[in-house]
Formats: sequence, structure tokens, C-alpha cells
Amino acid sequence: MVEQVELHRGLRDVFFDNTESSNVIGDIGRLIYRGYDIHDLAEKSTFEETVYLMMYGALPTQKELDGFDKALRASRAIPAEVLTIIATIKDAHPMDVLRTALSALAAFEPEVDDVSHEATLRKGIKISAQAATIVAAHHRIRIGEKPLDPDSSLNHAGNFLYMLLGEKPDDDTTELMGKDLIVHLDHGSNASSFAARVTASTLADLHGAVVTGVSTLKGPLHGGAAEGVMKMALEIGDDANVETYLAGKRERGEKIMGFGHAVYRAEDPRARHLREGSRVLAEKKGEPQWFQILSKVEEQMRPYAERGICVNVDFWSGSVYYLLGIPEDLFISIFAIARVPGYVVQILEQQKANILLRPLLQYVGPHDLVYTPIEQRG
Ligand SMILES: CC(C)(COP(=O)(O)OP(=O)(O)OC[C@H]1O[C@@H](n2cnc3c(N)ncnc32)[C@H](O)[C@@H]1OP(=O)(O)O)[C@@H](O)C(=O)NCCC(=O)NCCS
Repeated sequence: MVEQVELHRGLRDVFFDNTESSNVIGDIGRLIYRGYDIHDLAEKSTFEETVYLMMYGALPTQKELDGFDKALRASRAIPAEVLTIIATIKDAHPMDVLRTALSALAAFEPEVDDVSHEATLRKGIKISAQAATIVAAHHRIRIGEKPLDPDSSLNHAGNFLYMLLGEKPDDDTTELMGKDLIVHLDHGSNASSFAARVTASTLADLHGAVVTGVSTLKGPLHGGAAEGVMKMALEIGDDANVETYLAGKRERGEKIMGFGHAVYRAEDPRARHLREGSRVLAEKKGEPQWFQILSKVEEQMRPYAERGICVNVDFWSGSVYYLLGIPEDLFISIFAIARVPGYVVQILEQQKANILLRPLLQYVGPHDLVYTPIEQRG
């Protein structure tokens, strides 16, 4: 007989610890990083400053920020051996290449097994810088180009775009990419950060925990919707086709990518910044049709808001990446670049008051079966 236990499938609605890092307030659509509203950070801060805030717990002084920024810029290079590994597996999915290369970096990390706060922070800053280099280097290698050396005159977002696309971005584009990275940095107990915490809770090293996070992010229920949104916009092709397209989706019972969220029942607060970015970028690139199509989809989906199905961050980020000329299979990797420092933040927090994460499973299989020797099995 199955014992009666209170089961929380998927750990939904279960609080497993306290956090001071980020707070997702789903019913009113707010996102807070260390007490600051995401809108303030997206509009007024920089990626470097927000990562500092998250890693150290408070906004930096100018001197602290300069030191942190310098450390990030100085950490971008990756060993030649890791570049060779990337070249060997260049045809794999960019997320598979990213997790393999991040894992390989552990072999070149002298402090790999040191799980002290200071060592984890040092390694966390390094791996946050290197993740962007890996994604960019892989893309260059797979299109037959030489990977570009990081440019220390550019900030994290600008340098990533430069290493990826081979051209120094203008200030507006750099700022937009910085915003995108800020809003994707951390998000409460999301599946991949939780997975990273589980690994860290065994006192395994930072690289292992980050690789767990990146592996978990790859799934389409987590990191993959931005790609789907842009595919949808391309399929629609013209804003005159939006109504018919959505009606077809409804008839077939298919979900619309970029809508709905496991926690938000109101508009995802991150979407606003990328919507504006997408609008400005579309005009600048002379391709206003993508913004027009997506705006019409958003308008037509308004009735779904009554059921708590609202626009999410992925709805607008895909069009931003597309307009920047970034191939669709790299969209999740950009999410990962932003989230790696987020994993570091949650790993540090897990280590600070560690408890082994070890929930229970209720066994519902058979009992008391009699073992039959293999030769007697039919
Ligand atoms: C993100 C997501 C998995 C959240 O799921 P959830 O909160 O567990 O909600 P469910 O998938 O159980 O959906 C609840 C109801 O809303 C509907 N719904 C949810 N998202 C929808 C969408 N994008 N389009 C149309 N209907 C949707 C479901 O069909 C379901 O309807 P039903 O009760 O009539 O069966 C889901 O909204 C989704 O798949 N969205 C599209 C992918 C996406 O944009 N993901 C990125 C998230 S940041």
C-alpha cells in the first residue's frame, strides 16, 4: 500500500531556502535584484555594476567598480587547449560546445577544488568573462573564421558582440546588449540555478556547478523560447497574416512562444526593455516589419492576459538578436552568458549556509517480489 504523503510534484510552490539575491513577484510582475527594481537597473546600471551588486551584495563605489571591471576584462582569454577542443566539436549545438568548454576550463584552473568563498568568487569572475569568449570563439570557428582576441577597450557586452560578429558595435547596440544581459542575469529558483545549487550543495566545485546550470538551461522549457518567437515572426512574414496565423495555432491547440510563464501571471517585467530595444533597432536597421509583426501578435494575445498568460522576456529578445545578425541557434547561448554570473551568485549563496539538497521521492513501485534466476525467466 502507498503511504499518504504530501507530494509537491515538480517542487512547485515549495520554498527550499532563503535568498537575498533575486525576488520574482509573479502576480504583479516585479523582479528585484538585491532590493533594486529590475527597471532601475536596466535603465540606469551597467552589466558590470549589476554583476558586482549581485556577487558582493551592494552597489560598488567607483573604485570598486573599476577594480571589478578590470578583473573581468583581464579574465576573458581561454587556453589554446580549450580552443582546440572547441574546434574539434565545432559542429555540435552551441550550448553543448559551451558546457563542454566550460567543463574543460576546470582542468586549467589551479584553484579548481577550493570551495572557499574567496576562491569561488575569483573563479566566478573568471568563468563569467570566459563564457562569452567561448560562445564567440565557437561561432567564429564554425563559420571558418579565426577567433578574435578580446578587446580590453570594450565592456563585457561590447566585447562579446565584437568577438562574435567581428565588428565593434556602436554605443546604442552595446547598451542594448548590456540591458539584455542585466535582465537575464538571475531569476529566483529557476530550474538551472536550482540545478547549479544542487551540485554546489555536495561541495562540488564551481565549474561543475556552472556546467550543471548550463546543461539544464538548454531545454526548450527553460531557455529555448526566444528562438521559437523569431521562427514564428519569420513564418508570419507580414503583419497582415498575424490574425490567421494565431487562429491556426489556437485551432491546433499550440502554444504561442514568448507567452506564459511558470511564475509570472502579469507581464514579465524584463520584456519592456527589450521591446523598446527591438523597436529602435528595427528602425535603425531598416527592417521595421519584425517589430510590426510582433507588436500585432502581442496585441492579439491581450485577451490571454485575463488567464495570466502574458508576454515574457523571450518574446522580444529573439528579435533583438536577429536584428543584430546573430544566428538563431546562438540565442540560448546568449541567455547562458548572462546567467553564468547568476549561477555564481547562487552557488556562493548556497555555499555560505550550505545544506545538502536531498529531497525525497515517494516509492510507488511493487514490493516483496521474488527474485527469479535469469535462466528461469520467460
Ligand atoms: C512557460 C510555460 C511552460 C509555463 O507553463 P505553466 O505555467 O506550467 O502553464 P501551462 O503550460 O500548464 O499552461 C496553463 C494553461 O495556459 C495555456 N498556455 C500557457 N502558455 C501558453 C501560450 N504560450 N500560448 C497559449 N496558451 C498557453 C496552456 O495551454 C494551459 O491551458 P489549459 O489550462 O487550457 O490547458 C508555458 O507558458 C509555455 O510553454 N510558454 C511558451 C514557451 C515560452 O515562451 N517559454 C519561455 C518562458 S520564459
